[in-house]
Amino acid sequence: MKKFAFVLALCAFNSFANDVAEGRAKADAACSLCHGANGIAGMPSAPNLAGQQAIYLSEQLKNYRSGKRHHEVMGVIAKSLTDAEIANLSAWYSAIKVTVEVP
Ligand code: HEC
Repeated sequence: MKKFAFVLALCAFNSFANDVAEGRAKADAACSLCHGANGIAGMPSAPNLAGQQAIYLSEQLKNYRSGKRHHEVMGVIAKSLTDAEIANLSAWYSAIKVTVEVP
């Protein structure tokens, strides 16, 4: 239980420390073509990023950057991202609220 509270505190700290506005500006310029202006992908082969966990997004971007996760396009894109840009982009996409409608 204590561990859980600590993780929650860490998450809250992270989302304040990272700049959603900067992430949004970078996403508009570099990601929206495939992942959509609001993180809902306009391209059928690209995943939605809106509402995804920031920790997951950062991890995937770092994995593409290091080559641990391989994808021709994302590998090239992630190579140019700094740790701060990854944190901001992750903060932006995770800040988008999504609603789910079960069929
Ligand atoms: C040219 C199209 C294109 C652009 C531009 C692009 N992406 Fe992607 N992105 C993709 C595709 C296609 C995938 C799926 C790759 C795979 O199968 O691993 C992907 C996957 C991802 C994933 C993994 C999602 C998951 O569910 O695991 C993240 C995170 C991501 N992109 C972030 C970004 C960010 C941030 C930017 C801008 C800096 C960006 N992408 C720009 C096409 C693009």
